[in-house]
Amino acid sequence: MRLPGFLVNVSIVTLAAALTPYDSKECSAAGSIQFNELIPEDVFVRCAETTYECNSTIHGGKWFKINSTNEPVPADCKKDLYNLQTAAAFSGPLAMPGLTELTSIAFRGGYVKDESTGEFTIEATRISTIDLPDLVNITRWGFVIDNTASISSLNVPKLKHVATILQLNFTGGPALNLSFPSLIDVGVGIQLHGEIDALDLPALNSTGIWIEAKAFDLPYENRTGYSISVNSTGNLDCNAFAASVVNATNYDGLGVTCNSKKGSVTLKQVKPPEDTSAASKIRGGFLGSVALLAFMFAL
Ligand SMILES: *[C@@H]1O[C@H](CO)[C@@H](O)[C@H](O)[C@H]1NC(C)=O
Ligand SMILES: *[C@@H]1O[C@H](CO)[C@@H](O)[C@H](O)[C@H]1NC(C)=O
Ligand SMILES: *[C@@H]1O[C@H](CO)[C@@H](O)[C@H](O)[C@H]1NC(C)=O
Ligand SMILES: *[C@@H]1O[C@H](CO)[C@@H](O)[C@H](O)[C@H]1NC(C)=O
Ligand SMILES: *[C@@H]1O[C@H](CO)[C@@H](O)[C@H](O)[C@H]1NC(C)=O
Ligand SMILES: *[C@@H]1O[C@H](CO)[C@@H](O)[C@H](O)[C@H]1NC(C)=O
Ligand SMILES: *[C@@H]1O[C@H](CO)[C@@H](O)[C@H](O)[C@H]1NC(C)=O
Ligand SMILES: *[C@@H]1O[C@H](CO)[C@@H](O)[C@H](O)[C@H]1NC(C)=O
Ligand SMILES: *[C@@H]1O[C@H](CO)[C@@H](O)[C@H](O)[C@H]1NC(C)=O
Repeated sequence: MRLPGFLVNVSIVTLAAALTPYDSKECSAAGSIQFNELIPEDVFVRCAETTYECNSTIHGGKWFKINSTNEPVPADCKKDLYNLQTAAAFSGPLAMPGLTELTSIAFRGGYVKDESTGEFTIEATRISTIDLPDLVNITRWGFVIDNTASISSLNVPKLKHVATILQLNFTGGPALNLSFPSLIDVGVGIQLHGEIDALDLPALNSTGIWIEAKAFDLPYENRTGYSISVNSTGNLDCNAFAASVVNATNYDGLGVTCNSKKGSVTLKQVKPPEDTSAASKIRGGFLGSVALLAFMFAL
């Protein structure tokens, strides 16, 4: 038996009513939510974990609030992922339990306008500790820390994937021990600076290649870079560290380089024998896309 059209409409509306509309008062404009000193951490986490974009033909609206742990997520709805960045004024500890996925993290100070000249300058962020105990995936860009000379600890015990670069510059800050116990892959490369005394990447399986902007002056085939580069003013044991991660570096790059108070080392993984010319064509295409990414970051 065919249902009359109006009954079908009623059932669609009833289904749609089951979804809670997105709360723009709490989370601000959908699609561009950013963490700043005006939004409490728990509110950012709640918004970042429950905002979904759905088919408005079906639901009579685009943005909804769905808690996937106790509500079914309709097939046409996809989670709206956020980026986490801080403004210059942010200081003190940052803790966001419950946050599982982000598009990127950028703690790189904030722009401050100089009233006398009208020019913008970067002011350091004064974050003391970073605790993201449930973060698993950085899905689109990188994890970048810069212009923040105050971080004494970074806790990301579940972080498994970083889509592009892991670039953390703790220069000027206190001595710290870094551990990424679950990190499996980093799409572009790893670059770390600061007074690093210990560094542990026990699960690392693959890294790409970070091509420095200055390498773009070289002929195409000479453009390359390290997969992992660590420059520590601390007591890091570079020999042990480099040996522990060299197998996770990219064959086409320069490998892993590390220097600290305890010495300098560069290691490259031995490439297995090349098979066909098709493989070298693939290599060219791969390097091309990595180079493009590095170029975009350099801008
Ligand atoms: C989702 O619901 C569960 C169970 O009610 C609750 O513990 C959790 O805090 C909720 N998550 C968010 C992000 O609101
Ligand atoms: C939204 O749902 C309608 C009805 O099911 C469908 O015709 C349309 O293609 C969907 N739009 C998108 C963007 O998926
Ligand atoms: C991480 O995010 C990427 C991009 O959205 C996705 O392809 C991948 O499946 C995710 N991995 C996990 C384990 O969630
Ligand atoms: C790291 O930060 C210091 C101090 O802010 C800066 O001088 C240096 O250029 C940065 N290094 C990199 C590689 O970005
Ligand atoms: C780093 O770890 C070492 C032991 O491996 C410890 O002696 C030192 O106090 C730690 N430093 C910090 C800043 O936690
Ligand atoms: C990475 O994973 C692949 C596939 O599981 C495995 O063959 C390889 O040995 C791993 N490499 C490292 C460095 O763990
Ligand atoms: C480019 O690399 C080749 C070897 O692969 C080397 O002979 C040449 O000097 C390099 N050119 C530059 C400008 O570094
Ligand atoms: C390492 O850092 C020191 C001081 O921060 C700097 O002088 C040096 O050029 C850096 N080395 C590399 C290889 O980046
Ligand atoms: C890296 O691979 C080589 C060759 O397969 C192997 O001998 C070495 O033990 C591996 N190193 C680590 C830390 O897994």
